[in-house]
Amino acid sequence: MPIAPHGGILVNRLVVGEEKRRLEHKFGSMEPLHLTHREVSDLEMIAVGAFSPLEGFLCRKDYDSVVEHNRFPHGLPWSIPVTLGVPKKEAERHRLGDNIALYGEDGDALGVLHLEEKWIPDKQREAQAVFLTQDLAHPGVQYLMNMGEVCLGGKISLINRPKTENTYVKYKLDPAETRVLIKEKGWERVVAFQTRNPVHRAHEYIQKCALEMVDGLLLHPLVGATKKDDIPADVRMECYKVLMEQYYPKDRIVMSVFPAAMRYAGPREAIFHALVRKNYGCTHFIVGRDHAGVGNYYGTYDAQLIFHNFDPEEIEITPMFFEHSFYCRRCDGMASNKTCPHSAEDKIILSGTAVRKMLREGIVPPKEFTRPEIAEILINSIRKMEIGMGL
Ligand code: ADX
Repeated sequence: MPIAPHGGILVNRLVVGEEKRRLEHKFGSMEPLHLTHREVSDLEMIAVGAFSPLEGFLCRKDYDSVVEHNRFPHGLPWSIPVTLGVPKKEAERHRLGDNIALYGEDGDALGVLHLEEKWIPDKQREAQAVFLTQDLAHPGVQYLMNMGEVCLGGKISLINRPKTENTYVKYKLDPAETRVLIKEKGWERVVAFQTRNPVHRAHEYIQKCALEMVDGLLLHPLVGATKKDDIPADVRMECYKVLMEQYYPKDRIVMSVFPAAMRYAGPREAIFHALVRKNYGCTHFIVGRDHAGVGNYYGTYDAQLIFHNFDPEEIEITPMFFEHSFYCRRCDGMASNKTCPHSAEDKIILSGTAVRKMLREGIVPPKEFTRPEIAEILINSIRKMEIGMGL
């Protein structure tokens, strides 16, 4: 039996046929609302069931419960508030019960919000509860504070899929499609790997350790909005393509993109990432060091510890925890403190900042840290970006 979606049913808010024609017909007469990149991504993720059981943007009661208790009012775990905030003036134009025409950043007609409620979020409280800080230097807090002050809640209908960047079209699988693929492959136990960074040897190590214990691996790089200094998704995809070709067993791995935006909510986002991968049909989920973290806002293993606040039966997808992994010269292989007794000098551990500096200077990091083929892609792309930025 495949694992059930979160809440039992895979949501589908993509309208087709007669319903699509009916909404399209009325679209021009609806009040318009232009969405940000992140809101477009949320809209699509809700519509295809990736965020099941969400059928729309949160209303107040659900929001309060998610923020305060990491759960919906009826008890189902959910850790990230998915909201649609607009400026007060914009909110005044819309009446409860209205159908609002949703447009993308480039003016494409996308879908409809069936407005159920207008409400004002307590952003300070949300920031503290979700991100564990109100510091504006935190990218998630910054996004929240810049968001409009009134939230529009209600179910959505998606009429047209947002455009997908060419580089990922081939790798874009909805939850329903991923579930079919897993079934075709005959995998009963599938582990998902979330990532927003270029792949390095520690990533590869924990993926392969996890794969030793299950039937298949879903490599699921996040390609929605990330903070400016994260490496762009198309570059990260290039890196993964090389690994897939040269180092991964093709019959055990599926790579598909995860078009959600990054929140950088550390522990809360780890729960969210796991629940969402359950919707894609995965039975296991990798949580390593400082999952979905940024700066020093979270403890190294907080994103693992938060799973103890939930009953495994209510989460259902099984987390697979990994300690900080590295290459150890004396072990002559990848390891973690769980498996390696040697001292710090034997371990090749590089910070993200140090690696970025090396790449910018055209220095290839040690092969024990990054595979040389990957380093080459990163060095070339950083050069291009710098040229692009006029540096
Ligand atoms: S994240 O924001 O998506 O978590 P990243 O792409 O760096 O960032 O990490 C992907 C997954 O790999 C996360 O589960 C993270 O905890 C884990 N991870 C990253 N680096 C290491 C490491 N050196 N040791 C163990 N786990 C790691």
